[in-house]
Parts: sequence; structure tokens; C-alpha cells
Amino acid sequence: MIEIHSLCKTFKGQKVLDNLDLVIPEGRITVIIGPTGTGKSVLMKHIMGLIKPECGEIIYDGRNISTLSDKELDEVRKHFGVCFQDAALFDSMSVGENIGFPFAMHTKLSREQISHEVAELLREVGLSGIEAKMPSQLSGGMRKRVGLARALAMNPKVLLFDEPTTGLDPVMTSAINALIRQVQAKSRATCLVISHDIQGAFALADHMAMIFDGRIVFEGTPEEFQQTQDPLVRQFLEGRLEGPINPIQ
Ligand SMILES: Nc1ncnc2c1ncn2[C@@H]1O[C@H](COP(=O)(O)OP(=O)(O)OP(=O)(O)O)[C@@H](O)[C@H]1O
Ligand SMILES: [Mg+2]
Repeated sequence: MIEIHSLCKTFKGQKVLDNLDLVIPEGRITVIIGPTGTGKSVLMKHIMGLIKPECGEIIYDGRNISTLSDKELDEVRKHFGVCFQDAALFDSMSVGENIGFPFAMHTKLSREQISHEVAELLREVGLSGIEAKMPSQLSGGMRKRVGLARALAMNPKVLLFDEPTTGLDPVMTSAINALIRQVQAKSRATCLVISHDIQGAFALADHMAMIFDGRIVFEGTPEEFQQTQDPLVRQFLEGRLEGPINPIQ
């Protein structure tokens, strides 16, 4: 459903995406893993049409995202539920207004109906009753879950999660992974999760891809990841210092 062909991006002479190819299968969960600073968030922003590629293309539903007008892009984004790495909540809006925002923007639901939807989404992420709080009053983990609730609003066809469980405790991490699985199984959305949580990745993924130096270096099922002897994958999964990934350059 989403095809990425030869995607390139350079920031101030630094090559971040280097001819990246990836197919994100429809109605499945794809998990992208990879070291910090290797272009995972930049890739997600390209899929959202927030960054224009230098070369290459992103095809969604047969359309090239990077050539769409702002109006066409707005239409496409209605299908997308996105949870950014830093939650990206609107700081001047309450939690309730943040989660209700997609409904207020794109539907004709009444205030009561929106409140009902918001309450249900907050319940799903384990934060019932915090509608009136402002983002600045939340812990990092709470912000994350509010961002997640907003991404799930309106049953999007495509779900993009950038590090949905980073900063959460192990039990909450499992709960959020289970929620993503459950929502995806119900909606059959095409789901892309960027994650450092290796156990979670294995629990969630139908398909996995590892990104390193702006390229996909390994792709396959969770079983193929567990079995491969590819040195990049092995070093990353085992968290070893020795190997081709040099964290301190
Ligand atoms: N808007 C920008 N302008 C300049 N450089 C950028 C910009 N966005 C990202 N970069 C650079 O691109 C590289 C990749 O960043 P990105 O955020 O995609 O990493 P990441 O793989 O998501 O890392 P992490 O696991 O830490 O979230 C980094 O070196 C970063 O400094
Ligand atoms: Mg990132």
C-alpha cells in the first residue's frame, strides 16, 4: 500500500536517506528498527509529506505523495493516524481538545459525540478522565499515550507510530503494544511502527525492516530477524558494542 523507491535526503551535506527502498504491506504491521540518528523519523516525515524528498518517490494508494498539492495532501492525511516521537501535542489545547481535534476538523460530530469518542480513546490508553489537563501538566509517558489516543481517532487506514513506547515502563509498554495489535486487528489498518523496543518489535511485527545509514539493510519476518547472521542485525539485537555499528563517531 505504501511503496518507497530510491528515497534520498541530505541535510547540510549530511546524507540521511540514501536510496532507501521499502514496501509497507497493506493491512499488516511493519516495524522499523535501527540505531539512533539513522533516518527513521526523517523517513516517517517523508511518508507524511512533511519533508520533500531530494530524489525518489513515495507511492500511497497509487499516488506520489511528494507531488501532491497541499489540498491533495490534506485529503490523504485524513487517512493517516500519526503519533510523532515527541507526541507533538498542541500545547495551548487541553488533552480533550487535542484528541478531539481530528473529529472537529474532519467530521460533523456534535460536541457531546466528540466528548464521547475522546473519553473512549482515553480509556483505551489507560488515561480516563484527564480531558481537562493541559499537556504541560502531563508526564512524558502520559503525553505519549495522549498522542497515541489522538493517532487512533477516526479509525485511520494508515497508522504511523514513531517510538510509541519509548519512556514508558515495561508493563505500560506491553499494554501499548497490545493496544496497537488490538486496534490493528480490528481496523486492518496498514501500520508502521518505529521502535527501539526489540521485544515489542517481535511481538508486534508481521514484517520487520532494519535501517542503517539511511538504507534498509535487512528485511523479513520476525523469525528471519531472529535467525539471521547478518552482523548489523545481530549487533543491534544483542546490543553489543563490537561490530559494524559504531555509536560514537
Ligand atoms: N530538519 C532537519 N534538519 C537537519 N538535520 C536533520 C533534520 N531532521 C533530522 N536531521 C538529521 O538527520 C539524521 C537522522 O535523524 P532522525 O531523526 O531521522 O533519526 P532517528 O533514526 O529517528 O533517530 P532516533 O532513534 O534517535 O529517533 C540526524 O543526524 C539528524 O540530526
Ligand atoms: Mg527518531
